[in-house]
Amino acid sequence: MFNHDDEIDKKMNISKESVKIISNKILTCNALVVITGAGISAESGIPTFRGEGGYWKTYKAEELATPEAFQKNPKLVWEWYDYRRNICQNATPNLGHTSLAQIESMASNFHLITQNVDNLHRRAGNKNISEIHGNIFWARCLNCKNVLPLDDRTKTQQGLKFCQICQGPLRPHIVWFGESYDTGLIHLCFESVKKADILLVIGTSGAVTMPEALALEAKKNKALLIEINPEVTTLTNLMDFSLQGRAGEVLPKLVPTQNKSTNQN
Ligand code: OAD
Repeated sequence: MFNHDDEIDKKMNISKESVKIISNKILTCNALVVITGAGISAESGIPTFRGEGGYWKTYKAEELATPEAFQKNPKLVWEWYDYRRNICQNATPNLGHTSLAQIESMASNFHLITQNVDNLHRRAGNKNISEIHGNIFWARCLNCKNVLPLDDRTKTQQGLKFCQICQGPLRPHIVWFGESYDTGLIHLCFESVKKADILLVIGTSGAVTMPEALALEAKKNKALLIEINPEVTTLTNLMDFSLQGRAGEVLPKLVPTQNKSTNQN
């Protein structure tokens, strides 16, 4: 890891030199992959899972985010997801999200892999997004398997939701604990990190291991690994740069200011 003497912000411990190197590399790289976790949405007022005020400090994951929990008490699970969806709906993308949208508009090949289900990356303007944990604004029919948006047309009865196509029961379109990822989507993510020359890992604790597996694959393929997180995480040791600050403060500094055509570095 790099040592930073020339700090631009003493609290964040990030040097001007690191910022320059990274933003130049963002501008000139062939392929940039970003992995985000709950931390990038913290500044939009959406709680994380494991940090201070995190959901799993108050609620039990096994009672709300497993297929068994849904089987046992679907009404409670829907209540929790309705509550969270409402928070996401009322949140707005922060400077971290909008900086990533700016970066996508400049980078040649950009892929955003997110564990977040809050839709804020799309609302900020990012386009090439893989939501590996699903999306809180969608539901899936347990009967006909269709994936449907949760909106005014969704049939709700006694706290449960039903498919408008076949009337079967709906469940949140979320990857719960104990469930498998979408294999096609994960394959795409691995292919993408294999080609990346930069991997940005933002706001994830690494407690769920997919970010680490993707980061290891990127490292094997000689990508530059950069973490943005106010805390040291289980991924920090893998990184070339660890920018210890909040995403909404650090990411705007990394957005390149030059045009690719004029950059010679
Ligand atoms: P966690 O809650 O485990 O970690 C959030 C991370 O964000 C921590 O490392 C914080 O230090 C960091 N953080 C907090 N504020 C930040 C900020 N302003 N800028 C940058 N980083 C900040 O969330 P994830 O790693 O995303 O799955 O958790 C992964 C999955 O575990 C979630 O998708 C969820 C959870 O259980 C399910 O619900 C199935």
